[in-house]
Amino acid sequence: MPAIEVKDLVKKFKDALAVNGISFTVETGGCFGLLGPNGAGKTTTINILATLLKPTSGYAAVAGFDVTKYRNEVRSNIGIVFQEPALDSKLTGKENLEFHAMMYGIDPATRNRRIANLLDLVELTEKANVLVQNYSGGMKRRLEIARGLIHKPKVLFLDEPTLGLDSQTRRLIWEYVKKLNKENDVTIILTTHYMEEADYLCDRIAIIDRGKIVALDTPGNLKAALGANASLEDVFIKYTGKTIRNIEEREKIW
Ligand SMILES: Nc1ncnc2c1ncn2[C@@H]1O[C@H](COP(=O)(O)OP(=O)(O)O)[C@@H](O)[C@H]1O
Ligand SMILES: [Mg+2]
Repeated sequence: MPAIEVKDLVKKFKDALAVNGISFTVETGGCFGLLGPNGAGKTTTINILATLLKPTSGYAAVAGFDVTKYRNEVRSNIGIVFQEPALDSKLTGKENLEFHAMMYGIDPATRNRRIANLLDLVELTEKANVLVQNYSGGMKRRLEIARGLIHKPKVLFLDEPTLGLDSQTRRLIWEYVKKLNKENDVTIILTTHYMEEADYLCDRIAIIDRGKIVALDTPGNLKAALGANASLEDVFIKYTGKTIRNIEEREKIW
């Protein structure tokens, strides 16, 4: 049974066709990348899989559960790190994790043990009792990853996990994600518009543009199809007609 199954998924908003008939499968233990420019439909896809948005049509299942029919079962099997920060800045790092663990009904002994382990994993043990408003961007991101893992999800959604972080912090996050995927067997689906990130972390990549998948393969195959020395950025330009430079310019405006 695949960890994620998506078939002909469509999401229409009033004036936008955000997701326009996409299909893909992610095997258990895989790391799948949704790579695309701003507005491509990445977050909308993630939100449907995480049961936060209803699809207009099509089918999606996570951990074997239809996302429209078995929302609670899906939710108990997934962790999610949102594109926008979702921490309470007036609480400490540890309190944020405690609050989240209580929402999942995890008993106090298990909760304390897991929180200690997760703070260790993301190297925030020393900052556990500091208010999140005093955390750096990278620390917040690491805490969000820890929070997404508190109930031991089988599938972790990471929506632009390193957006706006410096390259050193970005690499640190990549190492955590890699460890979770390879050592702890967590299936990962991540969205990004950083080519390097997708290339480094993902075993399969879908390039998505204007709500449609325009290419889907391993990073190696996507590059090889273009030529011996092609980069993933070359692949991206070929399929979307967009360069990273103009995406980054848009990001600045945003
Ligand atoms: N709640 C919403 N209401 C209306 N339009 C939306 C909403 N959310 C997203 N969109 C539109 O859907 C498209 C895809 O958005 P999104 O999934 O956020 O893209 P991405 O995450 O790839 O940047 C965009 O055109 C966006 O403006
Ligand atoms: Mg997005």
